[in-house]
Amino acid sequence: MLKQKVSERFQARRVQLMKQDTQACFIFFGAQEIIRNFDSQYPFRQNSTFHYLTDFDEPNAALVLVNGESHLFVEERDEAQEIWNGERYGIERAKVVFNVEYSYSIKSFYEKLPSLIKGADRIFYQLNDSSRLDSLARDQKVLRVVNGNHSSRGKGSIGNLPVLDPAPHVAELRVVKDSVEIDLIRKACSVSARAHAHIQKITKAGMLESELATELQYFMQKNGLQEWGYTPIVAGGANATTLHYVRNNELLKDGDLVLIDAGSENELYTADITQTFPVGKRFSENQKKIYQKVLEVNQEITKLAKPGVSYRFLHSEASVMITESLKSLGVPLPEKDSYRKYFPHGVGHYLGLDVHDAGIYQEHGKDYLLKPGMLLTNEPGLYFRGNETSYQGIGVRIEDDLLITEKGCENLTRELPREVHEIESNRN
Ligand code: GLY
Ligand code: MN
Ligand code: MN
Repeated sequence: MLKQKVSERFQARRVQLMKQDTQACFIFFGAQEIIRNFDSQYPFRQNSTFHYLTDFDEPNAALVLVNGESHLFVEERDEAQEIWNGERYGIERAKVVFNVEYSYSIKSFYEKLPSLIKGADRIFYQLNDSSRLDSLARDQKVLRVVNGNHSSRGKGSIGNLPVLDPAPHVAELRVVKDSVEIDLIRKACSVSARAHAHIQKITKAGMLESELATELQYFMQKNGLQEWGYTPIVAGGANATTLHYVRNNELLKDGDLVLIDAGSENELYTADITQTFPVGKRFSENQKKIYQKVLEVNQEITKLAKPGVSYRFLHSEASVMITESLKSLGVPLPEKDSYRKYFPHGVGHYLGLDVHDAGIYQEHGKDYLLKPGMLLTNEPGLYFRGNETSYQGIGVRIEDDLLITEKGCENLTRELPREVHEIESNRN
């Protein structure tokens, strides 16, 4: 269904962005439809920054922000196309619904661009955007306009306009969430956590990993959330030691653990949750030892996450704790960094519209400090791939989503049981 009028928050964000550099022109492209195979497309998902600045959710759009005004380029209405793909906003309606000063056909984008960038001292545009299939061709077209602008400025001009990455400016805005965003994420986290708790109860040996993913998605969809926020991982046994295992096509065996990393999106804001539990009724002694160590780190990070500390501090505390845990488990650690073999990823990341969300970790060589309204995952793990220990084939990750508050943090995924005795009582 088409929207009648989007919230003014989106316009306010564009204004805020332009205020960060009033001499600049910002250029953003929305996402395109991607072909899966002949005549069939992947479901369309808008580019996160484009959504953040517009709430416009059709493919092939562009946005130019300059001189305090927003210029939105959209697909024109087209009756023949709409029979296949549904009604579009079109040019006139887009202007009203999305609160922009100007709207145009996307076909006129490269014709209009020279006049829009004319007075700007610099351009913010993401070159070489790895999320796009057509980034090189697109870059070439944009740069041709930007560099053409230089020759049109005449001999007094001092060279081509600089083209800079808008990511730092955008990250500065996106990393701190407003109350509406927090409510959206809160629901994504609550539904996803309850979906995981449901799976903890219904899993049985002999089920396929993919069945668990389907059950999770069914629960999420019944609770109003349609899409995954990222490709889910359901990894039985040693599959859990492959960090991005997404094949999800093996049978679950009694005696193994299963690691599930999955979260749902709510209006494009995602949860990011991992749980690990036994396929049978109980953890084995070794599984329980590893699980307890990871849970202790997870719980300690929840205590430490608060305004004024940096992500790097949290990661370094987690690494120290993991190292101590590995030593107490008798794992050989010849070098200072040997723990990385068993804990090869970060203890977390920002969370929001993207599962690995926009945000600054370091600025001018200094750590960026957490502030209220930021969201961070808390995901320590231990993975034993090699045969040098008796823990071979065990992979455990425990991942929660933390909202930084005035005094500390709130665990938005706390509805998922984490203690060994709680999990085991769910496995009966
Ligand atoms: N689900 C991706 C991650 O945990 O970072
Ligand atoms: Mn994560
Ligand atoms: Mn995850």
